[in-house]
Amino acid sequence: MNLCINPQCQQPTNSKTFLFCQSCGSELLIDGRYRVQHLLGQGGFGLTYQVLDLNSQPKVLKVLTDNHPKYVELFQQEAHVLGIMNHPGIPKIDLDGYFTYFPRDRDEPLHCIVMEKIEGLDLEEYLVKRGNRPISYKRVLRWLAELSLILEQVHNLNFFHRDIKPSNIMLKADGCLVLIDFGTVRQVSNSYLEKQAAGQVTGVISSGYTPIEQMRGKAVKQSDFYALGGTIIFLLTARNPLDFYNPQKDRIEWADAVKNISPEFVNLIDSMMSSFPAGRPKTARDIFKEIIKIDSSLQSVENYWMQSSISSSSQAIQVNNQVLSVSNQTSSFNRDTSEQFERQITSDFIAQCRQELVEFIGPMATIICNQTMANNPNLSTFEFVQALARRIPNAQDAKQFKQRLL
Ligand SMILES: Nc1ncnc2c1ncn2[C@@H]1O[C@H](COP(=O)(O)OP(=O)(O)O)[C@@H](O)[C@H]1O
Ligand SMILES: [Mg+2]
Repeated sequence: MNLCINPQCQQPTNSKTFLFCQSCGSELLIDGRYRVQHLLGQGGFGLTYQVLDLNSQPKVLKVLTDNHPKYVELFQQEAHVLGIMNHPGIPKIDLDGYFTYFPRDRDEPLHCIVMEKIEGLDLEEYLVKRGNRPISYKRVLRWLAELSLILEQVHNLNFFHRDIKPSNIMLKADGCLVLIDFGTVRQVSNSYLEKQAAGQVTGVISSGYTPIEQMRGKAVKQSDFYALGGTIIFLLTARNPLDFYNPQKDRIEWADAVKNISPEFVNLIDSMMSSFPAGRPKTARDIFKEIIKIDSSLQSVENYWMQSSISSSSQAIQVNNQVLSVSNQTSSFNRDTSEQFERQITSDFIAQCRQELVEFIGPMATIICNQTMANNPNLSTFEFVQALARRIPNAQDAKQFKQRLL
């Protein structure tokens, strides 16, 4: 079956041999490469479908259904962020995975993003499927370790998620978690802070997970920790955190509902759920450190992520190298560039790159430089700088970084 994504279509179901919708005449092969199979979800501003690409691989297509300029901006931001992130706990966007599609006889486009399909269930569905039976403390502790490390990458690249909740976290069949729905993610920039002060920031509210400062349009990175704390309470109790709200004390009193948990863990979650951002952990790394104090064996979670992200960054660089080698054969690189292709990378040059990269993305720069080199010892200086530049969120900054080094 091929589905038509025209929101106005009366009969979207079509046989898989058709190229055009039999009801409204819109193209069924989206962007010339994706066939839509079925609907996965329906949010406030969009629809999520499962599609098949040209290799019949399942992917996820998100379609924006409301073209209000603010939503379009957030949607494009989601594509941008997914393109920058390189973590096994975050879905990867397809090559040229953001595009627009025009249904038949419509002047306004539909904005689309196609990304990796995570095989699994989101945590809300997962709990329903297991008959709303709470998750064990041991498993939740490991999941918190995973999520704090995923969030660390998001925050280190100077973004915050702003909508962490069970339906935006997926559990894969291998037991690992993936954070999805970057539609509300925000770059923490001066212009954001100015807009926030002027009350021009689009609000997102998920009851039980959104902290009060975010409801007032003053989200900070620590708002994500509150939402994460709420998610943990949901997993341990199978109830919305607000069910435990004590208005007299302005506190979420959840701990009595869960047996056999360590007092340190209760303190950690309570601090994450503190009414004021200042009472919460400062960084995602601080949360991870607290978990390791409770169960040191969970250090293995970090080793696992490191291994996986090294192999995925090496894949990404292989793709990048293919692109580079094709363009090297076919286009006219100037002389300076081809010399840079041949030059071997010296340790001084790596140090210089690291120093420059720190300015743009902070301490993550060291890890990224080391990973990139360790997996691709034969990169030329040009390829190395290109690979690092791809990890800088802001396009202008990335350009400046390249200019300084090449
Ligand atoms: N990459 C993905 N892989 C598999 N399923 C996904 C993926 N992204 C989204 N989904 C499913 O679709 C649902 C809606 O997607 P989401 O990105 O959360 O959009 P929204 O909540 O804004 O509608 C999710 O809760 C999840 O069940
Ligand atoms: Mg969602």
